[in-house]
Amino acid sequence: MAEQKKFYGQEEFSKGLEGVIACESKIGYIDGQKGWLIYRGIEIGDLAEHSTYEETAYLLLFGKLPTRKELDEFNEKLVSYRKIDPRVAEIIKDMPPKAHPMAQLRTAFSALGTYEDPAKVDEFDLETWTELGIKAISEMATVAAQVGRLRAGKPPVEPDPTLNHASNFFYMLTGRKPNELEADVMNKALILHADHGLNASTFTAMVIASSLSDIYSAITGGIASLKGPLHGGANERTLKMFMEIGEPENAKAYIEEKLAKKEKIMGMGHRVYKAYDPRARILSSYAERLAKLSGNEKLYLIAKEVEKVMIERLGKKGIFPNVDFYSGIVYYSLGIDPKMFTPIFAVARVAGWVARVLEYLHDNRIFRPRAVYTGPLKAEYIPIDQRS
Ligand code: ACO
Repeated sequence: MAEQKKFYGQEEFSKGLEGVIACESKIGYIDGQKGWLIYRGIEIGDLAEHSTYEETAYLLLFGKLPTRKELDEFNEKLVSYRKIDPRVAEIIKDMPPKAHPMAQLRTAFSALGTYEDPAKVDEFDLETWTELGIKAISEMATVAAQVGRLRAGKPPVEPDPTLNHASNFFYMLTGRKPNELEADVMNKALILHADHGLNASTFTAMVIASSLSDIYSAITGGIASLKGPLHGGANERTLKMFMEIGEPENAKAYIEEKLAKKEKIMGMGHRVYKAYDPRARILSSYAERLAKLSGNEKLYLIAKEVEKVMIERLGKKGIFPNVDFYSGIVYYSLGIDPKMFTPIFAVARVAGWVARVLEYLHDNRIFRPRAVYTGPLKAEYIPIDQRS
């Protein structure tokens, strides 16, 4: 076997590309040991405290905080792109209602791309890709909100141009305008989820874009990757776990049983963070506040207990809450259907997908890794009738 690997070159490889450097980037940096995250040099806590999602998206895309004029122009574009082709709603309506909203979002967003002018979508031009990327950031909120509305049997809500991106998304999803706290939380949640290095969905989008496919395909791939429970899909499952636990005093036994069966605890652990995820820290304080206000305090207490047990058991291994641990309690306390938690993640992360794709395309090289071949080097072709 060793002989065969040698024959094909590389003997060593990194499973799951752990630690592999695939490109250079100026967009964001994670210090996993310190639990530190920056977008373009600015700490995530500062952005969550002071910025808006629009401003953060601009920062990710263009490398600097916008001036007032630049932000106004960027906002105008986002607002102008909020209305999407009405045929997308018809497509969503035709989908089986039991399909997961991330599957519906993936398909609907992909369909949306087919209504764009192919002369724009299918020709590689960075300026056009940038404009379509901005458009996609705006459209993602509308498509996700329509998925949420239609699966609940309600009609889509027209976007409100007077609301900012996060508030308008909340409005299109729930049908009511957010109060000050809700608007603030939604804005912060979108900022916290906007970018995070070469996570699976971002990398997927970059791989697709590196073949110069098109930006709708790249983003559709990002949605598909984000759906998984090891990535964005963990937020929905984390809340489900808290509900299953039922009472804070059940947490320890529940965790021990899962760990004994070698099952993963959702919302815990991270490939890069070996310390407390700074995004989870920020969301934790909002989860506490909102859970109390909405009568869901028990869920928060269960989460705290799970966190405590997990850190006692696996903190030494670098297992701490990740961004998905508290986001579910936040959204649930805002009255949002748990099935929509991962689509909200996509509404935020699309800015990171677009920014990273555009950055990579400035000096594109198609992604094409290799595998260590461990199969036989010589095997006989046996005619079908002679096979056992
Ligand atoms: N619960 C229990 N044990 C865990 C967990 C967890 N959540 N996460 C990691 N571990 C353990 C593993 O069992 C493994 O133990 P071992 O060394 O004894 O075999 C060790 O920690 C390393 O874990 P890996 O799975 O190899 O770590 P990897 O970097 O491949 O995975 C991942 C990271 C996928 C996030 C993992 O921690 C996980 O599955 N977490 C739960 C799902 C989740 O919350 N995903 C969201 C991540 S954040 C995001 O994508 C937005």
